[in-house]
Amino acid sequence: MTEALAEVRDVTKHFPLTQPLLAAVQRKSKDVIHAVERVSVAIGPGETVGLIGESGSGKTTLGWLFARLHEPTSGIVRLGGRDISHLDGSALRDIRRRVQIVFQDPVGSLDPRLRVWQIVGEPLQALERLGRSEVRDRVAALLPTVGLPAGSLDQYPHEFSGGGRQRLSLARALSVQPKLVILDEPTSALDVAVQAQILNRLVALQRELGLSYLLITHNVAAVRYVADRVAVMYLGKIAELGGVRDVLERPLHPYTKALLAAVPAPEPGRRRTRYRVTGEIPSLVHPPPGCPFAARCPFVIDRCRTEEPLLRIPEGMERRWVACHRAEELVDVRPADLLAAEPVSGSDSAAEAG
Ligand SMILES: Nc1ncnc2c1ncn2[C@@H]1O[C@H](COP(=O)(O)OP(=O)(O)O)[C@@H](O)[C@H]1O
Ligand SMILES: [Mg+2]
Repeated sequence: MTEALAEVRDVTKHFPLTQPLLAAVQRKSKDVIHAVERVSVAIGPGETVGLIGESGSGKTTLGWLFARLHEPTSGIVRLGGRDISHLDGSALRDIRRRVQIVFQDPVGSLDPRLRVWQIVGEPLQALERLGRSEVRDRVAALLPTVGLPAGSLDQYPHEFSGGGRQRLSLARALSVQPKLVILDEPTSALDVAVQAQILNRLVALQRELGLSYLLITHNVAAVRYVADRVAVMYLGKIAELGGVRDVLERPLHPYTKALLAAVPAPEPGRRRTRYRVTGEIPSLVHPPPGCPFAARCPFVIDRCRTEEPLLRIPEGMERRWVACHRAEELVDVRPADLLAAEPVSGSDSAAEAG
């Protein structure tokens, strides 16, 4: 890959765990939530990196670190080669222009009292300090690029369908001509046909504008369609990273295999068999000493419980990274093989991402 557009290097984000009873006496607990732990990912110019993993694995937090909506606890965040980890004030405002986020929930993130031109033009007003008529002109020019009529400037968000509102969020993000767009579950709230339209638009916009995307989603089909590479997160860490075909067609990490086995088969009429990953999800406050997936892994060995597997290039492979001691041994285990495997114990937690 050429010079990265955006990069996190060994980045960690801890959140304070404020306990209600202690807070009452003005004391905070020493414990923290290990939301993102020593993660390194780079995104090239014009590249899409998919980010998948169960709910709570740290995907949104990682996206916010890239956008510098969170300051890292440790490690480095770079944009265009520049260390932006601890910027503030006007320097940070400049970052806002270059990295924008599209959120999952287009209802919650759009102010219902504002009109389209105000909503879409808000970043323009805030970051470029344009006046009303300039903002209206810029928004009118922008709406068709996301497939909305330029004449809808004075409408309100509730007059749009779910897909229409997500197009508004997208227009808003694009208004300041960012280089990187963090798409945080951008189509999760939409029905399948509308999802496809939005994904097509995203791909077309990327080609036209040379954008880079971080696509956070539990929709593996969307990742396959849009992403160049994919990172799989589990419990604040990267379990696996590589080209989208390599990872989705030949996953190496048992967690990735389980996640893909949980995705319903695409063929119509086929029974939706879902693999269930059993066992408790370990605590983010007191992460286990060895592999974070050890407690739920069907292939666990003693070493996994004591020695943490680091993200490494597996033997005999290129451009792939995996954090599993047994990756090479398990190369030929397919997600479907997990469906035949005996569930380990009786818990009922499905390996559904979210
Ligand atoms: N602002 C915050 N303050 C405290 N805890 C947070 C905050 N944001 C996220 N977390 C916690 O960090 C963990 C990872 O969350 P998140 O990044 O939202 O995961 P995902 O997007 O994969 O569902 C969760 O345990 C979540 O509760
Ligand atoms: Mg999230």
